[in-house]
Amino acid sequence: MNPGTIARQRAFTVLGIETSCDETAAAVVRGSAPGPGQILSNIISSQVEEHRPYGGVVPEIAARSHVETLDAIIDRALRESRVALSQIDAVAATAGPGLIGGVMVGLTMAKAVAMAADKPLIGINHLEAHALTARLTEGVAFPFVLLLVSGGHCQLLAVEAVGRFRLYGTTIDDAVGEAFDKAARLLGLPYPGGPAIEEFARLGNAKRFALPRPMLGRDNADFSFAGLKTAVRQAAGAGEIDNPADLAASFQQAVIDVLTDRTRVALRRFRTDFETPRRALVVAGGVAANAALRSALTALCTEENFAIAIPAPRLCTDNAAMVAWAGIERCETETFDTLSLAPRARWPLQDAGGAAGQVLNNMQIVQQK
Ligand code: KG4
Ligand code: ZN
Repeated sequence: MNPGTIARQRAFTVLGIETSCDETAAAVVRGSAPGPGQILSNIISSQVEEHRPYGGVVPEIAARSHVETLDAIIDRALRESRVALSQIDAVAATAGPGLIGGVMVGLTMAKAVAMAADKPLIGINHLEAHALTARLTEGVAFPFVLLLVSGGHCQLLAVEAVGRFRLYGTTIDDAVGEAFDKAARLLGLPYPGGPAIEEFARLGNAKRFALPRPMLGRDNADFSFAGLKTAVRQAAGAGEIDNPADLAASFQQAVIDVLTDRTRVALRRFRTDFETPRRALVVAGGVAANAALRSALTALCTEENFAIAIPAPRLCTDNAAMVAWAGIERCETETFDTLSLAPRARWPLQDAGGAAGQVLNNMQIVQQK
């Protein structure tokens, strides 16, 4: 490089595949770290209707449905992006954590596409994909605080780099999305519970039921939602629900109070742990689609002098653009995987920097909803 010239950072184009739960998704994204990136296509086929009669995701139905639709979804993602397979730099797919049947379908398809097109394969940790979405959308710089709230997870972390996390707090029982889904069932609302409760709560009085706020005021950043769910069951069972919208609103407010209080602890810890002029909170995962939660966290960040980044609802719930973006971040460091990479049902975020290709012997379902 000649002195005085600036190396032009290369943009990568990555095909992403997501099949870890009940969305079959493929996307093509172009960009380079720290973002933002350009979403060239983002196709999501939801299986919600197939699972609705069962009130939750049925793993066997999910895996079959991914098999039936994935190749058409990939085809559409490539066509809409107007990028030929030969022009992409890598194929990225969720390699875990998630329902193992679905993860196997997506990862195996990614291996086949990578092999046929002679492109590198990248196995992505689904949680890390959620964590990095705010870089795709807004180019948020490391380090930042992450509140990850989804159907299977509820965590507060400092994200220091790709694959480097510091855990501040986690749920000691249910994930917050799971709490929404279970509360919805108790209220007779349809699956998935989060959006149903949010809509219903708009009509209700949040002060009507005095529900517990577990862990509020503790000096660690852990969560607990099981007691709240039990309180909803008792209120619903006691026949007090002449107006279920009041119970939905009271439940949602209790969840928001807990999440806000726990996040405040994490923001303060981050402030002492990192000397950075730009402090930011990133909120990710399906529950981050909740508008009341978004506005409560925005107010918290104003108080605590943090910037806030919350991706648009369509990028908070499961999608493949986030997987493609995580692949771009891995292209930067050229950390690719081999075709022997194994899918993983469990894969904690703190291990995301380690080798993904561990032998899988745990066939348990981890995202039962
Ligand atoms: O991230 P996600 O799409 O899938 C997982 O990886 O788990 O999150 C799904 C979860 C479900 O529990 C769903 O009820 C919840 O996110 N959710 C919401 C909302 N939209 C989805 N929870 C509260 N309010 C919402 N608007
Ligand atoms: Zn997710």
